[in-house]
Amino acid sequence: MADKKKYIIANWKMNMTLDESVLFVDRINKEVVSPKDIEIVICPTFLPLTQMAKKIDQKKFKLGAQNFYHADHGTYTGEVSAFQLKDFVQYGLVGHSDRRQKFSESDQDIARKMAAAVRVGIKPVLCVGEDLLQRQDGLTNIILHDQVSAALAMLTAEDISSILIAYEPIWAISNGDGHGEDAGPDMVKKAVLTIRKTVGELYGKKAESSLKVLYGGSSNPDNALGYMNITGVDGLLVGGASLNYKSFADIINKATKS
Ligand code: PGA
Repeated sequence: MADKKKYIIANWKMNMTLDESVLFVDRINKEVVSPKDIEIVICPTFLPLTQMAKKIDQKKFKLGAQNFYHADHGTYTGEVSAFQLKDFVQYGLVGHSDRRQKFSESDQDIARKMAAAVRVGIKPVLCVGEDLLQRQDGLTNIILHDQVSAALAMLTAEDISSILIAYEPIWAISNGDGHGEDAGPDMVKKAVLTIRKTVGELYGKKAESSLKVLYGGSSNPDNALGYMNITGVDGLLVGGASLNYKSFADIINKATKS
């Protein structure tokens, strides 16, 4: 039977102090009823990860890293490896547009991170998406095809069941408040289909149907269910709206009741 599990993943980006993160955990533990068939993942900065891993109700929540390095250890000043993180996180974001654009992350960096995560047992959440000019020029499908193919270059067909892909149109990502440009349901449906087809072409039908695809970009309590109900969408990657425990809990509780 097809896996019906849905995913709601919080990407806190560079927000929240250690104290704020721990307080959030206390509050969200109380606010959220045990989600059925929904995997809730919080990706804080590295700073509070170990504390959060101790405090969080592991039956309700999982943790994720926003970034990591592909080598296990060595002379890489300032980096933290997937290998070092694997005891604290179950998920890891890879290739978020912030990293591609602001930190010049290349296709090769991204492919290496995907492979490193799978190797150590972290589920990578690959972020792909076009910018506004690319959409206006009709290049969305090509961009998605190229980003997906490049990122998966070091993976096998079996590995695909251990990864997730998030479609995040860059122009729809909010400035941090969860309210930005709305990507229409048709756009999201088409993009998600392109992502699935690309994986199908590369790895076959079985890999295509096991693939989990999320949507990310200005999702909030008002539009979350709408996005989650789009054909082919298995969940959400939530930025701004995940920083407030009430709005994040609202998204989770709405999805749980639907
Ligand atoms: P947003 O961010 O929900 O604030 O638009 C999403 C993301 O960048 O992952």
